Amino acid sequence: MPYSIAVDGPAGAGKSTIARKIAELKALVYIDTGAMYRACALKAIRLGISCSDAVSVEKMMEDINIDFKGSDTNSIDRNIFLDGEDVSSLIRTPDVSKGASDISALSSVRIRMVELQRKMAEGYNVILDGRDIGTFVLPNADLKIFLTASADERARRRLDEMRAKGDMISDFEDVKRDIEYRDHNDSNRSLAPLRKAEDAVEIDTTRMSIEQVVEAVCKLIVIKC
Ligand code: DC
Repeated sequence: MPYSIAVDGPAGAGKSTIARKIAELKALVYIDTGAMYRACALKAIRLGISCSDAVSVEKMMEDINIDFKGSDTNSIDRNIFLDGEDVSSLIRTPDVSKGASDISALSSVRIRMVELQRKMAEGYNVILDGRDIGTFVLPNADLKIFLTASADERARRRLDEMRAKGDMISDFEDVKRDIEYRDHNDSNRSLAPLRKAEDAVEIDTTRMSIEQVVEAVCKLIVIKC
């Protein structure tokens, strides 16, 4: 029987870093669900549509194609394609982050993305990271992890990532403000808000190294999967 792992938590808690490492170690299919909402936001931004405009976004969603492609399904380095174009690096800007948080609150977007995510996960050993995986997308996941860290620590990690990619303009306060905006938005929307599933194991990573978190998750996999 294939097994599934759900990794949820707020922005910058380390979900994708940990999910990728676990996918690599255990040969799981990795699905970055945040990238899918980011691709929707990028399309809206390019079309000049507000990511909060429910009517225009619903129309936009009638004609959108989102897919992951790579050398094989089990590769953790699969890129995300929007209408046939590789947008993997274009979706990592602050504007798209904010847009993704806004657009993900709209039902036309969530219904399409959740359907796609469930389809992609079917029949594979999978790890999905996002906000609503354990509560909504895969309520029967074999293992549910809820990753947290203090807002300061999450902002520090995000800023380090941005610096490493050459962004020398954003400062700590900008990044922390963006993270807090998204935390509030993602936790307070009516549809599948960011929430710890009752049966999820919470790991506060504020003072943990990546290796320590990976080790903790691997121990849980042995018990639960
Ligand atoms: O994980 P991320 O930062 O790439 O996600 C971008 C936004 O997408 C996030 O602010 C909220 C939304 N999102 C969501 O609503 N549900 C998910 N399963 C994943 C992301």
